[in-house]
Amino acid sequence: MRYGHFDDANREYVINTPETPLPWINYLGSESYFGLISNTAGGYSFYKDARLRRLTRYRYNNAPLDSGGRYIYLRDNNASSDSARVWSPSWMPARTPLDFYECRHGMGYTLIRSKLNGIEAQTKYFVPMGENLEIWELTLSNKHDTVADVSVFSAIEFNLWDAMDDSTNFQRNYSIGQVEVVDDVIYHKTEYRERRDHFAYFACSEKLTGFDTQRESFLGSYRGWDHPKVVEAGESSNSIAFGWQPIGSHHIRVQLKAGEQKKIIFVLGYHENPKDAKFDPPESQIINKRTVLPIISKYLKPAEVDKAFEGLRSHWTNLLNKFQVNTPDEHTDRMVNIWNAYQTMITFNMSRSASYFESGIGRGMGFRDSNQDLLGFVHLIPERARERILDLASTQLETGGAYHQYQPLTKRGNNDVGSGFNDDPLWLVLAVAAYVKETGDFSILKELVPYDNKPGSEEALYGHLVRSIQYTLDRLGPNQLPLIGRADWNDCLNLNCFSDSPGQSFQTTTNKDGKVAESVFIAGLFVLAAKEMAELTKQVESQKSTHDLASQPSKYYLDAASSMEATVWKAGWDGEWFRRAYDDFGHVLGSKENEEGRIFIEPQGICVMADLGVEDGRAQKALDSVDVHLATPHGVVLQQPAFSKYYLHLGEISSYPPGYKENAGIFCHTNPWIMIAEAKLGRGDKAHDYYLRINPSAREGIGDLHRCEPYVYAQMIAGKDAATHGEAKNSWLTGTAAWNYVAITQWILGVRPTYEGLQVAPVVPAGWDSFEVLREFRGVRYSIKVERSGAGNQVKLEVNGKAIDGNIIPLPTDGSKEVRARILLS
Ligand code: GLC
Ligand code: GLC
Repeated sequence: MRYGHFDDANREYVINTPETPLPWINYLGSESYFGLISNTAGGYSFYKDARLRRLTRYRYNNAPLDSGGRYIYLRDNNASSDSARVWSPSWMPARTPLDFYECRHGMGYTLIRSKLNGIEAQTKYFVPMGENLEIWELTLSNKHDTVADVSVFSAIEFNLWDAMDDSTNFQRNYSIGQVEVVDDVIYHKTEYRERRDHFAYFACSEKLTGFDTQRESFLGSYRGWDHPKVVEAGESSNSIAFGWQPIGSHHIRVQLKAGEQKKIIFVLGYHENPKDAKFDPPESQIINKRTVLPIISKYLKPAEVDKAFEGLRSHWTNLLNKFQVNTPDEHTDRMVNIWNAYQTMITFNMSRSASYFESGIGRGMGFRDSNQDLLGFVHLIPERARERILDLASTQLETGGAYHQYQPLTKRGNNDVGSGFNDDPLWLVLAVAAYVKETGDFSILKELVPYDNKPGSEEALYGHLVRSIQYTLDRLGPNQLPLIGRADWNDCLNLNCFSDSPGQSFQTTTNKDGKVAESVFIAGLFVLAAKEMAELTKQVESQKSTHDLASQPSKYYLDAASSMEATVWKAGWDGEWFRRAYDDFGHVLGSKENEEGRIFIEPQGICVMADLGVEDGRAQKALDSVDVHLATPHGVVLQQPAFSKYYLHLGEISSYPPGYKENAGIFCHTNPWIMIAEAKLGRGDKAHDYYLRINPSAREGIGDLHRCEPYVYAQMIAGKDAATHGEAKNSWLTGTAAWNYVAITQWILGVRPTYEGLQVAPVVPAGWDSFEVLREFRGVRYSIKVERSGAGNQVKLEVNGKAIDGNIIPLPTDGSKEVRARILLS
């Protein structure tokens, strides 16, 4: 069943029932102020850090699942029957049946429209560019031929800033909540009197009939959000919160003539005051509002709201126009042109911190994750990619290793999780190479960046990459393969953990010294990264401004890559596929010798991406084995056979029931590696077939099985061993977004940035006659038209009407900003 449809022209997904299989969400904000919003207006907001600066409260794992959000209640003061008197225009939380409902999730905004009792309500939620606030613009229309008398109640629940503390430390928190209500604006100022210099505000464009700030006064004891006492009575209690649970609720009473329309604007925001100007008057405990009031009054004006919304729309139009395609396949077009690009931006902003499956408390920015997220995002806003690279590199350790995570607010490495995930540093090499290829900005390599944020330890970024490579070479095991450490890309393959105590963290517990267990995956990743490093070093050597950076010649990295390659063929090749690892006993994993876990997806993907066996048929063998053993109609599973029991020496991977997560689930992040590998072999039909199996738009028709949003990738789809094979989980925050974007745009459509120019090497299905790409690259607009004259992947290139050898469109040397390229595939 379908729960909605795509509106590609408006870049929206339109949901036409509130009762989706799971909450289908969207994100608001893309700079510092962020919000999550579901199709029934559930969700929460935060400033920069979902844990440390949370504005509104949200209780995960609730019943109903999606409770708490940006709620509005309408009360028809003329209604004759009680049952239809009160409703929520977003359906939740009142859940009164509506005559009409529609939710449109767009690029950075959500629009919910509904109708009941002849009253049409539309709420547009968004965060203006450059501001730390969100706007809810409510438009009420009276479709009756009589006057409507409507009470509007807004409702949010404030979070006491630190979301972790907020959900645990009740003995303190029930006593500290504080608010101010001045001139119809509700201010939430818990802890402002002491060490905080920030507060939240919730304002409304209308004169208030009443307000509430104490939750139980609003709801009534023993009532939930579905049926607040105040809304039922049609009258606020004007409560002021002292401790307990501060909320914000405005009451506006409006009379609407027949056919009349009215806009009511709510603004919820975050504001900081200078430390020495927190109070007004200075000796008081009253918030100094002089700095915030101009912002509030600006956004309570409809014209400003319209302007801000237009600003947001054109921001996204400009971003998405950097890469547009027109192919024979609508799912490809829709994902590349709109939703996949959008998701890469969201993962870039959020890493794995805040979604409906990530509480915002658990994880900060992942080192490995953020480097990969950047691969899909770098062409959109390269300046932010640059900043992210420098932030990440600043958390690198002097050993070349890296903190696995850092907190976005402090940008410091997270000590609780620590380091020792031995793949981490290599991803930095891939991210930096991608950034320089995209931008040609070699100056980033000279940026002085500290280790572990320690002043005095600064070294040029290029030196960080040298250490990243060296980190692997310094940690080789008995077979000369890289030692795995706590885990490699697969966080759940914990070969040094040996955890037998319930509740212990597989990620941070290590009971072995880690001198034996090795990873074939890291070996493949190393070959890929070392080749990138060689290519980068060649460029560095050839440029006057950077040539003194290179401590080793390019050949050093090529030699390191080929010697690792030789090791893989010796110890990592199983005859029909690449092996996965060696455990702490020196036993192989991911081999015919194993009973369970005989073949894993990760090394097949990464080794072929690093070009291992592409020339001699072994890559093809490996990928054919993937097809036989791992592929399903819903995507490619992580390994087979699934682990049927818990193996102490393998760790978390075997803790999951078969078919879920890393235990033979379709861990979508890895699927694009296989697509890229297939493209490397020139098998366009196969690559695109894998692409479509997990493409959310292509799965829209099986919504009851898939269950997650049909417009974004999920981390996982249950594998063939699972009872719910085909069911997706953990949507939005996953490396799947970036990697699918890379796979389809760079390897299947084949348009990829290189140091010399834009390369075009499509490996598309044989049945595609033609396709077009518009790509902005280093400030130049490339219009590329690809046409087939034969079924293969041979490229004949014409640039501005002139035939050119090879498949790289050189950068224009005459300053022109438009390039036309025609490609003949045969
Ligand atoms: C999660 C993690 C990622 C890891 C993957 C596989 O998506 O965020 O870092 O690589 O799981 O375990
Ligand atoms: C769990 C998840 C894995 C994730 C890890 C991050 O192990 O299964 O996917 O990478 O947590 O800490």
